[in-house]
Amino acid sequence: MPKNSSLHIANKAKQDEFYTQWSDIKKEVQAYIEYNPDVFRGKTILCPCDDPEWSNFTKFFALHFVEYGLKKFISTSYAVESKVNMEYYQASFFEEQSPIFDEKKTRAKGKIFILDSEDVNHDGKIDIEDLQWNYMDGDGDFRSKEVEEFRNEADVIITNPPFSLFREFLNWIIEDNKRFLIISNMNAITYKEVFPLIKNNRMWMGLGFGRSFQGFIVPESYPLNGTEARIDKDGNRIVSTNNTIWLTNIEHGRRHQPLHLMTMADNLKHSKHKKVKEKLAYDKYDNYDAIEIPFTDAIPSDYQGVMGVPISFLYKYCPEQFEIIKFRKGDDGKDLSINGKCPYFRILIKNKKCNWFCEGRKDEQTNRTA
Ligand SMILES: C[S@@+](CC[C@H](N)C(=O)[O-])C[C@H]1O[C@@H](n2cnc3c(N)ncnc32)[C@H](O)[C@@H]1O
Repeated sequence: MPKNSSLHIANKAKQDEFYTQWSDIKKEVQAYIEYNPDVFRGKTILCPCDDPEWSNFTKFFALHFVEYGLKKFISTSYAVESKVNMEYYQASFFEEQSPIFDEKKTRAKGKIFILDSEDVNHDGKIDIEDLQWNYMDGDGDFRSKEVEEFRNEADVIITNPPFSLFREFLNWIIEDNKRFLIISNMNAITYKEVFPLIKNNRMWMGLGFGRSFQGFIVPESYPLNGTEARIDKDGNRIVSTNNTIWLTNIEHGRRHQPLHLMTMADNLKHSKHKKVKEKLAYDKYDNYDAIEIPFTDAIPSDYQGVMGVPISFLYKYCPEQFEIIKFRKGDDGKDLSINGKCPYFRILIKNKKCNWFCEGRKDEQTNRTA
């Protein structure tokens, strides 16, 4: 993560108030629905670490409750008094007008919103108007027993969790074997707890990635750092998101689209990357029997050995095409290096199709010589 990016600074300062925009949620969720229209049918979705009165996640799933065939939708928020760096707080108009509004609880307690198939206002349809809410007993911390029970009840967990507690949050989902769709930072891939999940195909990248995100809304007190930080036409303060990704274990179509690649000979002759084209051969690592591939689109389709690729490769990773072998380290336990220099985090992969392709060619040759 660039050292001066808003998210880097926020992570250091434990600033977690980054609100996801409707367009980013819509684009991502629709891709799963397109792949499998029944992906959420009959399911209970939980959005923890949310802020139901303001959150686009809650509004989005309440709007699509019937269309997606949800059984139940639950979202929980974290008490304002428990948040770090939240100087300003104003209860929403919706809450203040409610008969259960409580001046003390509004700051000290988490809130829970539930939508199920009960037509609360008897208007003949289930929508956001049927959301029922209440204060929680505790502050809505996802690690509390209270939220844990909702986690246990849920089939799918969807949210943008606090960056400062990312490892804990992911572990909280994984330990209960949930389906999930969460927002993260690319750097999380480098965490030692995270990479094995990717390697073993228990988690993969969603579709939205880096600049395809519209950015996050942040509170007044957050600095607008980074070249793409801005104030939008509605006065929202938006920060840039170069490193943001979705992580999931829900299937989507792009994950099964193989990359179209050139052979090694063609790459060395025709690659659009000077760094590849100028060479007679791909570099080899000093401390692992593998070749260095500086760009994902320069992976040779016909190479049978192990290859080191940048972590952005995961955005294009198709498990039918490649096998992930290892992350970052050579045989000596040190970072992979070429002539003593270490390229930025590499993932070691192997071409699966190549084996099939080469085997095919070998068979062809054997047949021809027979
Ligand atoms: C990145 S924001 C995202 C908010 C919302 N889900 C969205 O995407 O618009 C993460 C939220 O988690 C809350 N949070 C921080 N620590 C938490 C905890 N231990 N338990 C639950 N929520 C927490 C933060 O206050 C913040 O509102």
